[in-house]
Amino acid sequence: AYLDNAGAGPITIDVYNAMRDFLDLYVNNGEPWDDVLVKVYENRKLFAELIGAEADEIAIVSNVSTGLAMIAASIPFKGRVVVSPLNFPTDIYPWLTLRNKGLISEVVFVNPVGGYVPLEEYEKAINDNTVAVVVDYVSWITGYRENIREIARIAHEHGAIIISDSFQALGVIDINVKYEGIDVLVSGLYKWLMGPHGIAYIYVNRKSLDTLTPAVLSWHGVRDNVVKRKINGWSNVFSSPFNIFNAEPSKDSSRFEMGTWTEISLYGGKAALEFALKHEMPKKYTYTEKLIDELIDGLTDLNYEVITPRSSKAGIVVFKTGKHDLIRNNLSRRGIEVSSRPGTIRISPHFYNTMYEIDLLLNTIREINPNS
Ligand SMILES: Cc1ncc(COP(=O)(O)O)c(C=O)c1O
Repeated sequence: AYLDNAGAGPITIDVYNAMRDFLDLYVNNGEPWDDVLVKVYENRKLFAELIGAEADEIAIVSNVSTGLAMIAASIPFKGRVVVSPLNFPTDIYPWLTLRNKGLISEVVFVNPVGGYVPLEEYEKAINDNTVAVVVDYVSWITGYRENIREIARIAHEHGAIIISDSFQALGVIDINVKYEGIDVLVSGLYKWLMGPHGIAYIYVNRKSLDTLTPAVLSWHGVRDNVVKRKINGWSNVFSSPFNIFNAEPSKDSSRFEMGTWTEISLYGGKAALEFALKHEMPKKYTYTEKLIDELIDGLTDLNYEVITPRSSKAGIVVFKTGKHDLIRNNLSRRGIEVSSRPGTIRISPHFYNTMYEIDLLLNTIREINPNS
């Protein structure tokens, strides 16, 4: 049983086929450059549809960390940044770097209580000097689903933007960036969206583009770029010279794109996004939630302390144990994959998992560690 979708999900057959077809095309005809430019645009459109945004609000980069670094390198350098310690490290390091360089005044950590951060903590930490609040939509380490809409409201009251890494949420639960008031969202595909590595998406709300200008621009991020030329119907996107004496940022979110995309992942990415939209993946959460509830009940019956709050969860369940490596390694030997973190085990079933697999996992944990 594969129960580590929060680490990396399996790719779908569609993704596999799309990537194989790309390789065949490449081997037989060379780089399909013009089609690659079309795929960039198609990926932006599909990702926008998934989160309730517009295609021109999406940029494509090669991984989530690069996307976050691009945003960090774009914020107006002043004030403080508020972060959650429950964020993935990649959502914290760029801000510490900016602080160490004296480019922002401070990084303020909110205080978690158990597996989550109460809203009052955000109210205390966010003030009129705050430029950005950075909160993962679902915590990789506790499975807590944040109340992003409320945190966004508090941030906006103080003129700050909210940046949310939603890698642990998209593909499990429905996210509408406009409804939730998210200014910047970053996500990849290789976990719950069952797509390839090598591709990630940055959403930046049009309003926020007035304040977010990258510290450096590259050839895909300037106003006159090859994707724009392709969209405008150029048959040869190199038929006019680029203006190398003036680097103006693209008017839309493509300003965050740097160099050439991981081409094979644009093909696999398109297939993954189409799968997610076609099968309305978030609707399957009514089923996945039953697996999650069974897990929480079963682990509680085995006397484990479950950190993930039942009232605000997504696809991850985390429980405490001093024997995390022992349990994980034993499960793995018996063909059950979960992941271990210091002092905890993380279990992350997806819609394709079954109740039988959950019960098998619980019974096996009981066997491995009967005195839990
Ligand atoms: C919330 C979150 N963000 C980002 C990452 C990693 O991103 P990247 O693809 O940049 O390594 C992870 C990986 O586990 C994650 O859980």
